[in-house]
Amino acid sequence: MFKKNFSLIKFNSFKLEVKCKLFFQANNLEEIVKLSKSKEFKKENYFILGEGSNILFTKNYNGVIIKNNIIGKEIIKENKTKYLVKIGAGENWHKFVQWTINKKMYGLENLSLIPGSVGAAPIQNIGAYGVEVKKYIKEVHAVNLKTGKQKIFNNEECEFSYRNSIFKKKLKNKYIITNVIFNLNKNFKIHDKYQGVKHEIQKLKNKKITSNDISKIIIKIRNYKLPNPEKIGNCGSFFKNPIVSEKDLKYILMKNKNAIYYKEKENKYKISAGWLIENCGFKKIKINNVSVYEKHALVIVNLGTKSGKDIENFYHKIQKEVFKRYQVKLIPEVNII
Ligand code: EPU
Repeated sequence: MFKKNFSLIKFNSFKLEVKCKLFFQANNLEEIVKLSKSKEFKKENYFILGEGSNILFTKNYNGVIIKNNIIGKEIIKENKTKYLVKIGAGENWHKFVQWTINKKMYGLENLSLIPGSVGAAPIQNIGAYGVEVKKYIKEVHAVNLKTGKQKIFNNEECEFSYRNSIFKKKLKNKYIITNVIFNLNKNFKIHDKYQGVKHEIQKLKNKKITSNDISKIIIKIRNYKLPNPEKIGNCGSFFKNPIVSEKDLKYILMKNKNAIYYKEKENKYKISAGWLIENCGFKKIKINNVSVYEKHALVIVNLGTKSGKDIENFYHKIQKEVFKRYQVKLIPEVNII
C-alpha cells in the first residue's frame, strides 16, 4: 500500500530533493477510508499533497505523504441560469477551468493558469485578478482521516476569507478533500476590476468579449509577470499581502510615500507585499541559489538549490528586513513543513 523512502522531487514545484518515509496515492474514496483505518497509518504523522505547488519542504518528511489523485468531472444539475458540477480533488485546476470555458460555464475565467489541484483551491481560497474561488463553491466533500467518516461542508462552513479557510485553520490536515461542488453561471459576466485586465480588454476595441478572451488575457498577464514552475522552481506568491491598521499604514507611508496599498474596509489596508520586498532590495539579492523573481518580488525562486533550508533561510531574511524597515510582519501563504 505504501511506497517507502520515496523521493518527492517531482511532487513539489520548488523542485527540492526531499524524501518521505511513506508515500500513498489515493485514487478514490474507498482507498482513503481503508487508509484511515489501517494500523500502520495510525502510527504515523501525515500530510496531504495535491500537486505540490504551494508547499515548502524544509527537510525530509518523517511520515506519510498522501497524494490526492481522485479524478472526475461531472455535471450533476442544471437549471435556467446555473450549472452544478462535481469535480475530483485530484484534477488539475487549470484543465478544469478550461473545461468549464469550453462547456460555456462561467465564473472561473480569471482564475486561469493558477497552478495546483482542484482540491487545493478551497483550502486557501485561491484568488487572482479580482475573483476569489469562494464565490463559486457550493460544497466541499471530505473524509476525516482519523475516523474515515465523510462530511459535506457547505460554503459557510468552509469559513472562507483572504487566502484562508477552515481547512487551513482548525481543521488543518484533518480532512482530505475528495470532491468540490461548484456553482457556475450560464450567463457570462466580465470581471475587469483589475487594471491590467481592463487595459487588455480595451486593446480588443469593439470585439464582443468572450470568457475565452478573458482566460487568454489572464494567461498572458500571468505568463508575463510570474515564472513558469516547469522552468523555474517556485510556489507563486510566497507571502500573503499583509493587512494593517491606519496607524501602521501611516508609518509605512512616512518611511516611503510610494508604498502600494488598497483600502479593504474601515481601518484595514492591504499592503503590496511584492512592493515591500522589492523596496528592501531583494530583486538584487541571491543567496545559495535562492532569489525573488525579477518581475515579481513576491515570488521566491529556486535557481538551483536542492535544499529547502536555503529557501527557508531566504524567506526568514525577507521577513526580517521588511520588519526592520516597515514594522510589518509578512506571513507565508505557502505551507511550510
Ligand atoms: N509590485 C511591485 N513590485 C513587485 C511586485 C508587485 O511594486 O515586485 C506591485 C505591482 O506593480 C502592483 C502591486 O504590487 O501595483 C500588486 O501586484 P500584483 O498585481 O501582481 O498582485 P499581488 O498582490 O502581488 C496577488 C496574488 C496573486 C495574484 C495577483 C493578481 C496574493 C498573495 N497574491 O498578488 O496570486 O495572481 O494578486 O490578482 O494575494 C499566488 O497566490 O500565487 C498568486 C500569484
